[in-house]
Amino acid sequence: MKTASTILEFRALRKELPEPVGFVPTMGYLHDGHISLVRAAKEQGCASVVVSIFVNPTQFGPAEDLAKYPRNPEGDLALLQAAGVDLVFFPTPEIMYPKGYQTWVTVEEVSQPLEGSMRPGHFRGVATVVAKLFNIVQPQKAFFGQKDAQQSAVLQRMVKDLDFPLEMVVCPTRREADGLAMSSRNTYLTPEQRQKAVVLHRSLTTAQKAYQQGEHDATRLRQIVLDILHTEPLAEVQYVSVANAESLLEVEGVTDTRLLISMAVYFGKTRLIDNILLP
Ligand code: PAJ
Repeated sequence: MKTASTILEFRALRKELPEPVGFVPTMGYLHDGHISLVRAAKEQGCASVVVSIFVNPTQFGPAEDLAKYPRNPEGDLALLQAAGVDLVFFPTPEIMYPKGYQTWVTVEEVSQPLEGSMRPGHFRGVATVVAKLFNIVQPQKAFFGQKDAQQSAVLQRMVKDLDFPLEMVVCPTRREADGLAMSSRNTYLTPEQRQKAVVLHRSLTTAQKAYQQGEHDATRLRQIVLDILHTEPLAEVQYVSVANAESLLEVEGVTDTRLLISMAVYFGKTRLIDNILLP
């Protein structure tokens, strides 16, 4: 496995890689959710896999956790090596955003609801850094997690609109044994919060069961999720959304469109997100 931190160095190593190249962008502090994307790249026929590790400052709001975002570069490299990754791009903020930087990618409508409305500017930072990474890495396929459903939707739109010559692959959410979605932010939870955080997944699977038994009323599905979340006193709900899975716009009443149920829930200062697609 090779690593590069400058764009020049990276490009030289990238030239040597057999294609198709699969790419997994990350912010590090890697867990099996990230590694499942590396496995997917291999399973889907990528001859080489590139991973980037970059805690992207432009996607964090002023009150968010950039400075204390967890980091573990040695551990990350060991996991990537064991997973059979070929090349790792590990730039600094100065390399990605040198003095004078002033170009931004804004994906409009699909960035606005849900996470976009809670985290102004977040998806502008995500789209910009991923566009830059695509130009640097030039992959044939790029792998993202359903865990960040809106991020995947925003980036799919960007790839289409800006004609990036690559295929986007969205992979299922990897979960801990009790159902909690794997996330670098889970490390912030106290043991008690960690135990109670399973309520997010429980609320989603309860709604899923109701849906499978014929409950296709979006308003009632939203209430089912809220009722379960409200049974957990440590959980402070920021939003629960039942939206059209393509437009991400809220749905009310009975519907036959594909639904995305998503949520953001605070445990203390830790903000957890999760979602499910129905059907
Ligand atoms: P990060 O949070 O490190 O996530 C990197 C990728 O891993 C994303 O595509 C995310 O959806 C996926 N992922 C995270 N947890 C997962 C899980 N439990 N199961 C499956 N996939 C999971 O998302 C980002 O970084 C950044 O916004 C980035 C795209 C790298 C741009 O900076």
